[in-house]
Amino acid sequence: MNNRNLTRREFLATVSTGTVAAVAASRVPAYGNVSNRAGKPAILGGQAVRTKPFPGWPVWDKSAEEHVLSILRSGHWFRGRGETVTQFEKKYAELLGAKRCVCTVNGTNALLTALHALDVGVGDEVIVSPYTFIATYNVVIGSCALPVFADTDPETFQIDPDKIEERITERTRAILPVHILGLPANMDRIMAIAKKHNLVVIEDACQAWLAEWRGKKAGTVGDLGCFSFQNSKHLPIGEGGAVVGNDEELMDRVWSYHNCGRPFGSVKRTSSYPIIGTNRRMTEYQAAVGLSQIKRLESDTQRRNENARYLTSRIKDIPGIVPHKLYEGVTRAAYHLYPFRYKKEQFNNVPRSRFLAALSAEGVPCSSGYGPQYRDGLMEVFLNSKNFTRAFSKARLKKYRRELRYPANDRLCQEAVWLSQTLLLGSKADIDDIADAIQKLYDNRDKLA
Ligand SMILES: Cc1ncc(COP(=O)(O)O)c(C=O)c1O
Repeated sequence: MNNRNLTRREFLATVSTGTVAAVAASRVPAYGNVSNRAGKPAILGGQAVRTKPFPGWPVWDKSAEEHVLSILRSGHWFRGRGETVTQFEKKYAELLGAKRCVCTVNGTNALLTALHALDVGVGDEVIVSPYTFIATYNVVIGSCALPVFADTDPETFQIDPDKIEERITERTRAILPVHILGLPANMDRIMAIAKKHNLVVIEDACQAWLAEWRGKKAGTVGDLGCFSFQNSKHLPIGEGGAVVGNDEELMDRVWSYHNCGRPFGSVKRTSSYPIIGTNRRMTEYQAAVGLSQIKRLESDTQRRNENARYLTSRIKDIPGIVPHKLYEGVTRAAYHLYPFRYKKEQFNNVPRSRFLAALSAEGVPCSSGYGPQYRDGLMEVFLNSKNFTRAFSKARLKKYRRELRYPANDRLCQEAVWLSQTLLLGSKADIDDIADAIQKLYDNRDKLA
């Protein structure tokens, strides 16, 4: 099975239902004996290394069922009439060591709320990573600000701090680093650059629950941090999001804005005119699911980290397989995905698509990850739009088009291989299956070409 064209969510959904492994299983009945690991690749008719599915996702228990039902029966479904969202916000803030948390309907709206609260909007420029889920681009574009990409550090898959300053102009207002795949970006460098240029920092931690930079949780290092609780996420609610922060007045603004501009704390009506706002409130049901899911987050995160370390130790010496690096300041990763780079030159020039198909056939679901989305045509749509042609000069947009070149990111998009977080939730033997499958493909690289 070739996963090349699956989006991250489709890929994660496929992994969760065990579909990829099931496809391999239907071809090969045997499991786990030595010949599976050493013989002919499954894609060429041999036996797959692994025929049972990896753990599914999401996982839930009775406590969620009972709580959701009790909310349904109470008729108190919106946060104005219940306490569940408030409870969840308190718990999540506590877990992160943040002073405050405001929940939203999803991560996209958490980011939009954070941008608004920090007064980032029309005519501003925001430095972002090109290697991210499309929502990170969309929220900047949706705020009528220019998403200015800084190239990617291919070793860590994160925004390259060395490429940020050259992209700063007099219009730059914010840096929006993404802890993509759940691996923290270099926050020391990003915060230093922000300080030097008087910029605000909004962390897109939508894939990085409980990840840490020097002992501080991802999302609590910058001015505001944003999270997603969408179905595929480590704290899955179906949909859901949160903004966290330590500045009380700023968080009052977040609260007020997400709740129709109602006055809150330091946000007061100064006249008879209402305060600008919108409705991004989380429902009580969402929070009930969140409260049950939050219980497993710590132990799951620990397991993902242990298994990720073990996997790295098993595959790091296979020629052509380059595991991701973590910056020295990372004290913990979240591992929403486990990424490595595939160097086909060391695999007898077997194309990555063939490698992915062969690995999937061995019973290890995998994907190629993000493509260079700035080439998809989206850029021209917004650059030509009424909003952007009014907010930015012709000269600025011309320069912007000229600078839409990210060679390191382009290369990474050609070499990346992702394994989903659920593959890291099993046993050490599961990780051995992954490593053995990769080794088997390397040993058979001449036959795969
Ligand atoms: C990096 C990143 N940013 C933002 C979002 C948006 O979150 P949501 O899907 O909850 O709107 C996601 C979700 O996948 C994400 O992965």
